[in-house]
Amino acid sequence: MVYTRTQFVAAKELEDEEEKFLTQECKNLLLSLPKQKGWRTPYLYEFQGFWCQSKKIQAIISFQKHFISRESDVILATIPKSGTTWLKGLVFSIMNRKHIDVKNLKNHPLLHSNPHDLVPFFEYKLYSDNQIPDLSRLPDPRLFATHIPFNSLMQQNSIKNASPKIVYLCRNPLDTFVSSWHFVNNLRPKSLPPFQIEEAFKMYCDGIIGFGPFWEHMLGYWNESLKNPTAVLFLKYEAMREDIVSNLKELAKFLGCPFSVEEEQEGVIKEIAKLCCFDKMKNLEANKTGKSIKNFENKYLFRKGEVGDWVNYLSPSMVEQLSQIMEEKLAGSGLTFKLFP
Ligand code: A3P
Repeated sequence: MVYTRTQFVAAKELEDEEEKFLTQECKNLLLSLPKQKGWRTPYLYEFQGFWCQSKKIQAIISFQKHFISRESDVILATIPKSGTTWLKGLVFSIMNRKHIDVKNLKNHPLLHSNPHDLVPFFEYKLYSDNQIPDLSRLPDPRLFATHIPFNSLMQQNSIKNASPKIVYLCRNPLDTFVSSWHFVNNLRPKSLPPFQIEEAFKMYCDGIIGFGPFWEHMLGYWNESLKNPTAVLFLKYEAMREDIVSNLKELAKFLGCPFSVEEEQEGVIKEIAKLCCFDKMKNLEANKTGKSIKNFENKYLFRKGEVGDWVNYLSPSMVEQLSQIMEEKLAGSGLTFKLFP
């Protein structure tokens, strides 16, 4: 791609912004890592076996060094655009339902805050921009989120030792790709040319996307959920769209706070599902304005929330190519996806 002068200045500004908070140690490390053109930032680097932006690498190193996990912690893990925001809202509501009357929702925190404000990411929030937060005073159970792949998460010694509960939400790769492509185009400075779907698709198929390759991300958590089902719960976006009540029950049970018969009869599960459903969340003021994660406008976190929207964007040859990759990479794992509603 050839940039005009204005576009070149915009791309350079993006790069400078990206590098502003990097320590010399991180800059030195980046020099030794393989790199490729990024989706949103100038480069993605291959770090601990996955593709990652420079600022996130620094945050992950700091998180791996400083975080002290507890057995009672709950960690929500996803690859971007798999429904992270939804999962955060649901788990926050389940875990806090004893303090918040779901039958009288006027003051529920989710009505006034974006889920990313209530459940912070390690790498986008807590350990970003050289921060080392004191998390020791947070009451149990603490709730965090991450996009870090499983193997890299296990390089955090205290997590490996404490073995907190991990909930992974997975979405079919065709919809996840389309959602990622839209999201990145929305965030791109208007002075840069739009990110063409063909270019994004090639990068996705080559595994070059933040925290990817997507198949390794999914398989890391999938295999662990099979090996260790009391530590990792593997959920699917499509199944949650189809039957949210059963999934919420499974989630609550896994988290150690199952719904009682009375709660079920009183409609608590349905209230939580309603509170976090796409239309409700998309139309809340807190989700229409502001930026709960630096550089990401909240409004772009809610697009269509559908299963099967890929049919509107992918050509037959793209579908064939991606299906083949999924078949090859996921062969023998038992991990399958529903592609249509
Ligand atoms: P689409 O772009 O396909 O609409 P993440 O939260 O991981 O960034 O994922 C974003 C995707 O989840 C977007 O998908 C978004 O619309 C969808 N989404 C956001 N909130 C949702 C909700 N409450 N229920 C279902 N899907 C939701």
